[in-house]
Amino acid sequence: MESTTMAKLILFISLLHHIFASSTQSPPLLPKEAHPTKSGYLPINPTVNTTTTNNKNRSFIFYTFYEAQKVSSTLSETPLLIWLQGGPGCSSMLGNFLELGPWRVTNSQTQENIKLEPNPGSWNRIFGLLFLDNPIGTGFSIASTPQEIPRNQSLVAEHLFQAITGFIKLDPLFKERPVYITGESYAGKYVPAIGYYILKRNPRLSVSERVNLRGVAIGNGLTDPVTQVTTHAVNAYFLGLINEKQKGELEKAQWEAVELVKMGNWSMATDARNMVLHMLENMTGLATLYDFTRKVPYETNLVTEFLAYGEVKKALGVSESMVYEECSDVVEDALHEDVMKSVKYMVEFLVKKTRVLLYQGHLDLRDNVVSTEAWVKKMKWEGIGRFLLAERKVWKVNDVLAGYVQKWGSLSHAVVLGAGHLVPTDQAVNSQVMIEDWVLETGLFGKDQEEDVPPHFKGSL
Ligand SMILES: *[C@@H]1O[C@H](CO)[C@@H](O)[C@H](O)[C@H]1NC(C)=O
Ligand SMILES: *[C@@H]1O[C@H](CO)[C@@H](O)[C@H](O)[C@H]1NC(C)=O
Ligand SMILES: *[C@@H]1O[C@H](CO)[C@@H](O)[C@H](O)[C@H]1NC(C)=O
Ligand SMILES: *[C@@H]1O[C@H](CO)[C@@H](O)[C@H](O)[C@H]1NC(C)=O
Ligand SMILES: *[C@@H]1O[C@H](CO)[C@@H](O)[C@H](O)[C@H]1NC(C)=O
Repeated sequence: MESTTMAKLILFISLLHHIFASSTQSPPLLPKEAHPTKSGYLPINPTVNTTTTNNKNRSFIFYTFYEAQKVSSTLSETPLLIWLQGGPGCSSMLGNFLELGPWRVTNSQTQENIKLEPNPGSWNRIFGLLFLDNPIGTGFSIASTPQEIPRNQSLVAEHLFQAITGFIKLDPLFKERPVYITGESYAGKYVPAIGYYILKRNPRLSVSERVNLRGVAIGNGLTDPVTQVTTHAVNAYFLGLINEKQKGELEKAQWEAVELVKMGNWSMATDARNMVLHMLENMTGLATLYDFTRKVPYETNLVTEFLAYGEVKKALGVSESMVYEECSDVVEDALHEDVMKSVKYMVEFLVKKTRVLLYQGHLDLRDNVVSTEAWVKKMKWEGIGRFLLAERKVWKVNDVLAGYVQKWGSLSHAVVLGAGHLVPTDQAVNSQVMIEDWVLETGLFGKDQEEDVPPHFKGSL
């Protein structure tokens, strides 16, 4: 999510407003009941060889953690969800305060000021919920030098592993808890990368050092970009948003991105993909590609405005001198050559060893249903044939149509109706039902009847 000049201007004006209006006492922006259970900084080891590894110039990943509102059985069995934002370079505080966290920032009707209100669809109803500002240099996270910011997914994963194990060590009760890694958009890269890293690393660690990974979930993800970039034209055409001539122009631009990938020209390939999205924006004239029905973009600037207050930063354990940026250009630049690189092979590994959920809000034009199905059907996994033949079931929440779920074995795919790129923002309660049912393997995410068949009969299906 990129902030526009307009959003910055609005922010500036509202800050001025705050400065001149702050003489009157107002209730705290972050009331005690909305404070995270824990928040702060997890140290990251430097990659550059330096003799000075004092904390003053180390890198840190910033986190906020919200314990489950209701503990299911015992705390040590209560699942732990980790959320990663996309970008590359966008802060997970967007997920925290605009999407799935227990409190969301809104524009209050009575005052001009922003305020928090409880989220009826929070993902921490029955699970612990950890937000990580990833990679270093993003949001409130600290990169000791720009050179330390990862330029590939292996280093992203290494840093995340340090942050996650560092977090688990904070409390002996975290040790046994089942861990699920979730995220959105560019986290379609990060989520497979850290999942893969954990599963490769675990066998080489003593039992007490392992991360108890039980599954990964990706919302509107960019995972196999070279396949995904080829779907924009056909998707927009059949939605009636572009005509046949425009479809041809867009296909030509898509083809250029694919050719650059084939040549291994990663930087130019990223530029070519950006061109495709820019052309689509230009042709359709939409307010945002994140949801083709929106008249105005998502109000991500509310989070930026909220996190500019010293009082809020203090309560979160952030230095008041830290400046929050919704998305970091420095991080985006560092990962520029990574954008078009596929992590599909990592998902293929994960689906064999653990559980995978892919979900998409169906109004998104950037990383949508069509673009996900295009790479899923190319997966190298012995279960893919049966997954593709599995029934796409109608999914209802409280008797109202919520979307569709297709599942076979360890792979689940959910389409969320009435949602764009930020699924939990648009469908709070349905997104909560989805993640809870998937984690607990209930509802449409329950075990397939086929799976009860003894393993030696399965091959004949
Ligand atoms: C790091 O630098 C120190 C001091 O220059 C040197 O002794 C050490 O071998 C280096 N370590 C690595 C892993 O390069
Ligand atoms: C640590 O600080 C020194 C001096 O400011 C700097 O030269 C060095 O690059 C820093 N090391 C890292 C890993 O950031
Ligand atoms: C990823 O980046 C790190 C640090 O720049 C580098 O040491 C490593 O070789 C890179 N890994 C891959 C697979 O490119
Ligand atoms: C990438 O492509 C551009 C344009 O075709 C070319 O100028 C550049 O040299 C290429 N870079 C690499 C690393 O191949
Ligand atoms: C699309 O690009 C053309 C040519 O640069 C420009 O004239 C037009 O205003 C753009 N349309 C939109 C909706 O941005």
